[in-house]
Amino acid sequence: MVQFDHLPSGLFMQSITLKRPDDWHIHLRDDTYLERTVKDAARYFGRVLVMPNLIPPVTDVNLARAYRDRILAHAPDHFTPVMALYLTDATTTDTVVAASQSGFTPAFKLYPAGATTNSAFGVNAVEAMFPIFEAMQKQDVILSIHGEVTDEGVDIFDREAMFIDTMLTRIVTEFPDLRIILEHITTKEAVQFVSAASAKVAATITVHHLMYNRNDMLVGGMKPIHYCLPILKRDIHQQALIEAATSGDASFFLGTDSAPHPRHAKESACGCAAGCYTAHAAIELYAEVFQNEDALDKLEGFASEYGADFYRYERNPDTITLEPLAWQVDESLTFGSDELIPTRGGETVQWKVTAGERS
Ligand code: DOR
Ligand code: ZN
Repeated sequence: MVQFDHLPSGLFMQSITLKRPDDWHIHLRDDTYLERTVKDAARYFGRVLVMPNLIPPVTDVNLARAYRDRILAHAPDHFTPVMALYLTDATTTDTVVAASQSGFTPAFKLYPAGATTNSAFGVNAVEAMFPIFEAMQKQDVILSIHGEVTDEGVDIFDREAMFIDTMLTRIVTEFPDLRIILEHITTKEAVQFVSAASAKVAATITVHHLMYNRNDMLVGGMKPIHYCLPILKRDIHQQALIEAATSGDASFFLGTDSAPHPRHAKESACGCAAGCYTAHAAIELYAEVFQNEDALDKLEGFASEYGADFYRYERNPDTITLEPLAWQVDESLTFGSDELIPTRGGETVQWKVTAGERS
């Protein structure tokens, strides 16, 4: 709902009240990092889909239950972590059945081995997983995919489009009833694929892929803060993502992929950990993007409805309100005993949550 409040000065201030949003893709990490990540995520999200790429990874329902308990120890009431399980070459159909029955593990995350952070335990040959996909289809468990090929010969900017061509098309054809989420899409090819696919296929879109393109990362020198995987692409892809997110098409919904790394791991002389931290300001940043497109009326569907519908949860019963109030993001955040540089650190954000925050 978009409201126009009449101010005494005669100016109009537009506030937005949304059903409480959910984040369908987040990395909360573990141990001492949970204090920061859970507090930020729980401030305004009702549910979050927690990624399982810990070391060792969260591969079954028991590990997920224990991880969920560690998260809940830092969470306010009513915050619901929903857990994704990590698919490995050794995942069994029994694990799929257990996931389907648990009530809190609706999805398995497929990381092609070597594709991204902590993916070494991931899948080496996707075709070999087809019997598991069969079981997931039967049990109605969701397949959540990091959609990039890992072949060294494929250019890093082409890896998502190549995965769609060579692998995703096959999976969708062989398993037409399997619910699939192509996570953190970054290309116009992904937008086209998901738009054309059945309602069983959806995609999450991060706010950093909406705000930035590869020029932001590379022009004037490499900026580690923007390095994530799949990597930022050229502006035509960014534009396709913005159009998809603001279109009102229920196949596209909010998943931040907020993925914190300590400053020393992002700004090291050799190598840079992939991941952008956005949980401190996620819904406000999405609001900026939607406002720039004159599409604030589409934010509630994207942030609070389509993801819940796809996962078959009730939409959240309560609301949050945002107002166009500028505020400055801290330059640096505490992160256990480390330092974390947040996206837009030291810069101004144009929207602020003024009601519905939890602490
Ligand atoms: O940039 C990323 N960071 N992409 C991923 O797929 C994983 C994530 C992480 O866990 O840091
Ligand atoms: Zn992720």
